[in-house]
Amino acid sequence: MENHEQQKTTASFNHMRSKLSFGPMVEMAREMGMENPLFRCHDRAAKATTVIGGREYINFATYDYLDINTHPKITQAVTEAATLYGTSAGASRLVGGERPPHRQLERALADFYQVEDCIVYVSGHATNVSTLGFLFGKRDAIFLDGLAHNSLLQGARLSGATRITYTHNDCEALEKLLAEKRDDFRHAIIVTEGLFSMDGNIPDLPRLIELKKRYNCMLLVDEAHSLGILGATGRGIREYFGIDPKDVDMWMSTLSKTLCGCGGFICASHELVEFLKYGSPGFVYSVGMPPIIACACSTALDLLQKEPERVHKLQHISQYFLQYAKSRGLDTGDAQGYAVVPVIIGNSWVTGFLAQELYKEGILVMPISFPAVKEGTARLRFFISAAHTEAHVAKTLDAVIDGIPKAEAIVAQYKAKHPDKFRDI
Ligand SMILES: Cc1ncc(COP(=O)(O)O)c(C=O)c1O
Repeated sequence: MENHEQQKTTASFNHMRSKLSFGPMVEMAREMGMENPLFRCHDRAAKATTVIGGREYINFATYDYLDINTHPKITQAVTEAATLYGTSAGASRLVGGERPPHRQLERALADFYQVEDCIVYVSGHATNVSTLGFLFGKRDAIFLDGLAHNSLLQGARLSGATRITYTHNDCEALEKLLAEKRDDFRHAIIVTEGLFSMDGNIPDLPRLIELKKRYNCMLLVDEAHSLGILGATGRGIREYFGIDPKDVDMWMSTLSKTLCGCGGFICASHELVEFLKYGSPGFVYSVGMPPIIACACSTALDLLQKEPERVHKLQHISQYFLQYAKSRGLDTGDAQGYAVVPVIIGNSWVTGFLAQELYKEGILVMPISFPAVKEGTARLRFFISAAHTEAHVAKTLDAVIDGIPKAEAIVAQYKAKHPDKFRDI
């Protein structure tokens, strides 16, 4: 009986697993000699450089854009908070209560965004899922940019609202859809990002604001990759364009990137935030953020405001990276030179082996393939830090140029040897 039950479980899991269908590709990668680049264990905090297995690497795989992680002020604040509050909030804030760092962080973020209020969730992904999932319903429509992050898609799906995807960053296409469909729905929201995480480009926010007003929609901007990055003092896309913060209904961002913690937030009107605090399942039915993380994020936000030179350094080195890559003939797609710059290779196998060649040279960067990006646009995605130097950039991009023919040769050799087995992606 027990055996039968076990078989049933295994069989159903195998069925689920086959849906992912990457098993054969993983097997082929192994045969071709590709090491698994995922889940690498770092010996210390991963910054502009990192150490893995005792060896130092130039690191382009971490979001610590402003080089704040391990800052002594953060470490001190966290140590003091741990002594006073421990490491856990213990329960949902609704029932278990709050600690001063929760309130301080939410107040500081609302002030930073110059809006009335803020709600902090324990996860950035859950912030989008739970906020969209809770606020919208069957009679509503969610207009999503074609490259919107998975968390935004999942939230839209959970809500049961009609999902309408517009071509990435194409406001003309969005306007056509709004003109055609907006009247069919009760509430509607336009969802975009401040800086797109796979392409490193910026949406036309002033135009999106104009459209949201004309078609009576709400607007959510996910600033995961633009907070601390865009604008003269790192205040994000609103500073970049000089727009009124109140023209956006929900300013969302994660706390895991520039603010080097974990979690996410929505900055909005007091009414909306209160509605989320009493209803949004990812807040109500989930434990509160550990007070030590709230402390870390508040201190990071303070550093961002007191040390704008970090933002300037990041902006300088990102532009340097973009120009250097272009000057070497590399394809950086639509990247605008702010913290995220892809180098588009096209073929997934070549991209994977290129990342491996770079790793051998002491450079860590992640290959990104389908389904994370469109087929045929596999890329190396570089997350740039304020602490990267021009020498890091030059060494890396020169190694990319040298590595491409080597990676192509590995793939071509395997293809010639195993024409029946080889599946191109
Ligand atoms: C645009 C965007 N939104 C939301 C998230 C989710 O944030 P977190 O990783 O902090 O959960 C990410 C994560 O990379 C992201 O890139």
